[in-house]
Amino acid sequence: MAVSKKAIVFTSLLLCFMAYSFVVATSGIAPLHDVQMSSEAIDGKFLFQEYNCISCHQFYGLGGYMGPDLTNVISASGKGENYAAAFIRHGSSKMPDFKLSESQVNSLVEYLKFVDIETRYPITDFKINMDGTVVENGN
Ligand code: HEC
Repeated sequence: MAVSKKAIVFTSLLLCFMAYSFVVATSGIAPLHDVQMSSEAIDGKFLFQEYNCISCHQFYGLGGYMGPDLTNVISASGKGENYAAAFIRHGSSKMPDFKLSESQVNSLVEYLKFVDIETRYPITDFKINMDGTVVENGN
């Protein structure tokens, strides 16, 4: 029985798809920064969840929109650790004061530092690889 042209085209496309999937799935993307989360930053992450900071704030543009995006609040010019700590410690006329202890404030700042080192938002400097994956360039 002769093999139809359709079957040849279909099989070739299937093989290409499988090969492409294999390359993309196995090439892996090295993390931009090989940073371990400190135990203080992990505590901060839990506090961030407990106090539902994301209901008003965003990471990577996602979250609630009452307060500003916090992805890079630590490295943003004119802001930084002390600036962030002041809001977290006392709140403001627009942000509630959660009456956190000093160690809770420090943990939250450590967590924000970790997030800040991890990435930029919005990402403006990136490259598109041959296989179609997109990688952020060093910042
Ligand atoms: C009810 C909404 C709300 C919640 C919940 C909230 N915030 Fe805020 N936050 C705000 C608003 C609004 C501002 C801007 C305040 C201003 O400009 O006076 C702000 C400002 C900040 C800033 C300064 C950001 C900047 O770029 O100027 C930081 C840091 C911050 N919040 C951290 C937190 C953390 C950490 C939590 C959780 C413990 C939290 N916030 C929970 C509303 C909130």
